[in-house]
Amino acid sequence: MKSLGIALIIARISGLLALAAGTALATGLVAIPVPLHMSLGTLLALSLLLLAGKARKAGEPLLLVIVAATWAIALPVWGSVQTQVFLALPWLSRVIHVICGLGAVGLAEILGMRLAKKAKAG
Ligand code: HEM
Repeated sequence: MKSLGIALIIARISGLLALAAGTALATGLVAIPVPLHMSLGTLLALSLLLLAGKARKAGEPLLLVIVAATWAIALPVWGSVQTQVFLALPWLSRVIHVICGLGAVGLAEILGMRLAKKAKAG
């Protein structure tokens, strides 16, 4: 289950760095290229998708697997369109985007915890 640990570490690091880069974008304190932020977010989405696939194989509840896989797809989609929707309420788009990002890290943690428990139990 080495790949499980690697996927989880990538999800954690990319999520944390994406949040830091996003905060820099929002505050304008540090000049961060948006594509760098998007790449970090994509890395998080891919690791969540990988964890969802592992959870499916390990027989985790289908609903959890579907929610995680859908979240992994929705994160980059929403991130890419967020500035073109809710034009009258731009803050709402941003709040949804940050919730998507943090939620992806949370789901990766939940899947990682459940899979590690299962692997330990043999
Ligand atoms: C593939 C995934 C992602 C894409 C495509 C994406 C895309 C973007 C884009 C284009 C912006 C700039 C929006 C603007 O110009 O106002 C942005 C801002 C931001 N992103 Fe992401 N992002 C992704 C993932 C994440 C993740 C994982 C997090 C947090 C864990 C995050 C947190 C933020 C924050 C805090 C901002 C600043 C929001 C603001 O302007 O107030 N993003 N993102």
